[in-house]
Amino acid sequence: MSTQDKNDGAPGTNQLTGHAYDGISEYDNPIPGWWHAIFLGSILFSVVYMAVFHLSSAKEKLRPEARLARAQERAAAESFALLGELKSDGPSLMLLSTSELAVGKGKSIFASKGCVACHGPNAGGVPGLGLNLTDDYGKNLRTPEDVFHTISQGVTGTAMLGFEAQMGKDDTILAAAYVISLRGTNTPDGIPPEGELMPEWTVPDSDD
Ligand code: HEC
Repeated sequence: MSTQDKNDGAPGTNQLTGHAYDGISEYDNPIPGWWHAIFLGSILFSVVYMAVFHLSSAKEKLRPEARLARAQERAAAESFALLGELKSDGPSLMLLSTSELAVGKGKSIFASKGCVACHGPNAGGVPGLGLNLTDDYGKNLRTPEDVFHTISQGVTGTAMLGFEAQMGKDDTILAAAYVISLRGTNTPDGIPPEGELMPEWTVPDSDD
């Protein structure tokens, strides 16, 4: 049952649906097709979007930089594995101090773990805060192992705290390798040396 209605911009075109609730009846104005299309289209889009960007690896194909980052991570992990198990004995530390990879990693640890705050960005020391680590003098250092132990355990009664508990052994070893590699580089912005001239440190033959 439908009746004509004239309460509309286009008189005579509005139908009423057949049902009435408590005397209130309803125009029969279906949602336009284009509206339906957008509605269903957006649902479909969300499903496709979810599948592509959240559930599959397709986004890496769509975003080359993501693929590149993954490849770089993998390459870094592989080359890192080349260093093998990190050991803190003198010969191992000396060998590591000649590895660009280990020294590079140690350098970023030195920057990110706050060593720079006291030893300066180039490890040349900061007056009143931390020693110059680029000279040939050591206050607590005689051997390469001493470098590791100083960083690991700190120097009791000074501002130099032990870092191994916080950084873990591997990062402590890498930081030590970096510090060892700095010996004798004498950064131009370094502060005057403290302590005594250290005995020479030698790199063992690496072909074992
Ligand atoms: C809060 C300041 C401070 C921070 C942070 C700090 N150091 Fe030190 N460091 C010192 C001081 C001070 C000494 C000298 C201690 C002494 O008087 O014997 C020292 C000594 C050392 C020595 C021995 C130098 C020598 O000739 O005896 C090494 C190696 C060293 N620090 C490395 C590091 C590394 C690596 C880090 C970061 C993981 C670090 N330090 C963070 C203050 C600091």
